Amino acid sequence: MPSYLITGASRGIGFALLDQLSENADNVVVTIVRNKAATDSKIAAELPGRKNIFVLQGDLTNVESIQNAFTETKKILGDSLDVLIANAGLISDYSAFLSLNELGKDPKALTADLTQLFQVNVVGNIHLFNTFLPLIKNGQAKKIVTISSGMSDEKLALEIGLFEGGPYSISKSAMNMVNAKFQAEFKDEGIIFMGVCPGSVDTGHYDHLSPEEMQRNMAIGGKFMTYAPDFKGFATPTDAARDVLDVVQKATMEANGGQLVSHFGNKKWI
Ligand SMILES: NC(=O)c1ccc[n+]([C@@H]2O[C@H](COP(=O)([O-])OP(=O)(O)OC[C@H]3O[C@@H](n4cnc5c(N)ncnc54)[C@H](OP(=O)(O)O)[C@@H]3O)[C@@H](O)[C@H]2O)c1
Repeated sequence: MPSYLITGASRGIGFALLDQLSENADNVVVTIVRNKAATDSKIAAELPGRKNIFVLQGDLTNVESIQNAFTETKKILGDSLDVLIANAGLISDYSAFLSLNELGKDPKALTADLTQLFQVNVVGNIHLFNTFLPLIKNGQAKKIVTISSGMSDEKLALEIGLFEGGPYSISKSAMNMVNAKFQAEFKDEGIIFMGVCPGSVDTGHYDHLSPEEMQRNMAIGGKFMTYAPDFKGFATPTDAARDVLDVVQKATMEANGGQLVSHFGNKKWI
């Protein structure tokens, strides 16, 4: 029975991953979420009767909660896990549309934004990987996948003048190095550490923009259009999850070990 662990399946892309993986009754899917009760209710309402889903509580900023989730996971899966999908992440709405220089006008707020992003998107995932590695070592697929972002690609930032969203981009860039370091250490054991960007996906972050944010968002959209003139706007979480899982299934050590790829499986981000 292939086993998957997904962080952050309470909503967004994580919930779509949970839906698609648990559709196959042969899979066992464990998810770690901050609010277990709310996630249980959502699953009962939207995915009724899926006996192969197990919801555990855990917060990436609380190592002990991740270790407790590990103990609970072992009770469900035994000593092995095939694929870990580190999907949970913080998307900062505060800094999404501003440059680092503009954000610098409020140094305290910028420090808080950077620190929180680093704690969740980087430190939390490092603890997550270290905690679950013993199970992954015994798994068949041996894949640890980070849902990351093309925003972490400095070539893209330079190519289209994408100065916005620095703190989030920096946290995802750091994850590129985290994956490279883990890959360097565990390549010989056949464990693949890889990042996948799901594309540009509507998960509600643009639902309540101020007129100024809307204008800035359109400017970012214009930059994306210069990069990909065929860009048709946001994907749905369902489409993004399907693309991500396709890339993950096909992933090999040679092509993906320690690397970030897009939902197309290459370095074309949108
Ligand atoms: N949407 C996009 O266009 C896009 C593009 C590139 C990459 N990504 C990446 O894809 C992943 C999912 O994105 P999304 O759009 O689905 O995001 P989202 O709708 O904002 O959902 C984020 C998920 O992460 C969880 N989370 C946040 N902080 C956490 C913490 N401290 N501990 C545990 N869980 C935490 C949230 O849980 P709660 O429900 O408890 O808040 C939620 O389940 C993220 O890593 C994001 O960076 C998204």
